[in-house]
Amino acid sequence: MHPWAATAISCANIALIKYWGNRDPELHIPSSGSISINLDGLYSRTGVTFDPAALADQLILNGENAPATALERASALLERVREMAGLRFHARVESENNFPTGTGIASSASGFAALALAASRAAGLELDEASLSRLARSASGSACRSVPGGFVEWQAGESDQNSYAFSIAPAGHWDLVDCVAVISQTHKSIPSQAGHRLADTSPLQAARVADTPRRLAICRRAILERDFEALAQIVELDSNLMHAVMMTSSPALFYWLPATLQVILSVMAWRKGGVPVCYTIDAGPNVHVLCQAGYAPEITERLNQTERVMRVLTAHPGGPTHLLAEVD
Ligand code: PMV
Repeated sequence: MHPWAATAISCANIALIKYWGNRDPELHIPSSGSISINLDGLYSRTGVTFDPAALADQLILNGENAPATALERASALLERVREMAGLRFHARVESENNFPTGTGIASSASGFAALALAASRAAGLELDEASLSRLARSASGSACRSVPGGFVEWQAGESDQNSYAFSIAPAGHWDLVDCVAVISQTHKSIPSQAGHRLADTSPLQAARVADTPRRLAICRRAILERDFEALAQIVELDSNLMHAVMMTSSPALFYWLPATLQVILSVMAWRKGGVPVCYTIDAGPNVHVLCQAGYAPEITERLNQTERVMRVLTAHPGGPTHLLAEVD
């Protein structure tokens, strides 16, 4: 194997309290903090090789040359690593996701978190968790949350130095399951990078941001005390607030499809009927349906029977980004 090579694995994550809007769009310093769970089994595997003979960085995504925008973002991260390590070589990056790309299951989060670890190790750096989280954040905000394990909070901070994520509880703390109702597998129309830039055009964003510390505190407490009912209420409110901002920005962003609303209404009815379950939706039409592990088979079954749900992926809380292989 090449001496400047490493491969890392990183889980996707689902935000319980969402990140939408930046105070610094270049560095991805968010307008407010967020909380997420890593998703075990939904992962990116990313290999990096710095090659003295390479004339440019190269990014192979799921076996094909990546689009120019993805290559630019990866190159910017590689450039930060080269600066830190005093290295000049270009890199070949090969990344694969084991779940559909661009459907609101954050492939950029797991992909860039894995890239941050693989690239820094391949360059001979041993970064601590906060530094790795900051590096991942520079490529994609939510990627900083895939670096630590389990239940994770991203403190917004106000600079590159103090905007990073850390674990608030390990993966084994609470066996929640994310049952992802896949409604569409086509690539989303407006990438989240562009969406973040529109957040402040919504008259609702300022109120949403001002209220975020309150929602973070409720969510944190619900996780630490394993209080599902409190979690359900704050998670749904937070998702609704983010989508309200999206729908009221200029231009308006609608990520939902008719089936998205159908699943939302079903989940609300199930909870009213006594099944502890709640929904949250990212920048795509798929619905993440959360429940405690004992209810997962029943929820999966109900979702599978719901019209226009193509399939259901399930994930328990996942661990931190880790190396698969490294060369001494
Ligand atoms: O990290 P980005 O730029 O892909 O933004 C992610 C935004 C949401 O997934 C919609 C919310 C979140 O906090 O993950």
